[in-house]
Amino acid sequence: MINTRNDSILAQLSPFVVTTNANRPVLDEAPFGLATRWFIDPHHTRWGPFFDLLQRLDALTFGPEGMPMDKWVFYNCAELPGFIYGFALEAERLSASERDLMGVPASWTGPVPFSMYIAIPMHEPGAWFGHNLASLNRTFPHRRFDGLGTITKAIGLAAFRVERFYGATQWLSNALHIHTRFGPLDLYTTYTPAHSLAETLTYGFTVTAEKLRYAAGDPAATLAVPEPDIALDARDVVGMKALQVRIEAGERFTLVGPPSTRGQQVVHPIRTVPPAA
Ligand SMILES: CC(C)(COP(=O)(O)OP(=O)(O)OC[C@H]1O[C@@H](n2cnc3c(N)ncnc32)[C@H](O)[C@@H]1OP(=O)(O)O)[C@@H](O)C(=O)NCCC(=O)NCCS
Repeated sequence: MINTRNDSILAQLSPFVVTTNANRPVLDEAPFGLATRWFIDPHHTRWGPFFDLLQRLDALTFGPEGMPMDKWVFYNCAELPGFIYGFALEAERLSASERDLMGVPASWTGPVPFSMYIAIPMHEPGAWFGHNLASLNRTFPHRRFDGLGTITKAIGLAAFRVERFYGATQWLSNALHIHTRFGPLDLYTTYTPAHSLAETLTYGFTVTAEKLRYAAGDPAATLAVPEPDIALDARDVVGMKALQVRIEAGERFTLVGPPSTRGQQVVHPIRTVPPAA
């Protein structure tokens, strides 16, 4: 069993996975020994209200940032090609105000999602692309679910049996506090015109059980992280483009820690990778 920085999450919430029957054999149904309680089939109408609740979870968390997902995006880009992993609570165990905010229908007695992690399989064997992470920790602070986002991503990656992970996020995203907990991230782009927001970085790392345990906050796990030699301001587009030019010329860089914030300034620690001998 995995230890985490906040084991009360695992004591109170139970894991769910959205998976088709066709994809289910690929899953680890008990990652780190944590049995999945609900298997949710996107082809079955009985789960209809659950998909509305997943969309509500996305809107409550992402909505304020203006990138809420339509339901066809969930279906086409997540539920059919990949999985959604998360933690949920039976509807009857929510308070009236929590039910109200989540829009839980009075007739629904099934699980209500408090977090979700979505990844999509890539062509490279064992490689997955992280599509979405959402957690109600900050929406329901009275629950004291600190760590829910990180723990959901860590256990989700184990459930999906991810070997090589890729992600794309914005330099100003708070989620980088989470993504950098998994160890140094190889930078593929630092400025990305192919994305709707060009100030996006693309990163990757090789997944190990130790990294997932470390990210989840298991005190027994350790991780070596190099010292940074470059500081990139999260609003410094000229700096992003300059690093991108160097990446395209063959240099390699890793993101080696969470952003540090001083007032309005957000700064990222980056390490130059020495050329292979
Ligand atoms: C980002 C999000 C997933 C964080 O969920 P969470 O359960 O609060 O995450 P955690 O408790 O695991 O946070 C891990 C770290 O990130 C930091 N963090 C998370 N959200 C933060 C925020 N809004 N501002 C500053 N720091 C933040 C936490 O302080 C914590 O740092 P620590 O480990 O040093 O204590 C959640 O707020 C969310 O759903 N946001 C909207 C969607 C989004 O941005 N998703 C990520 C992009 S894919």
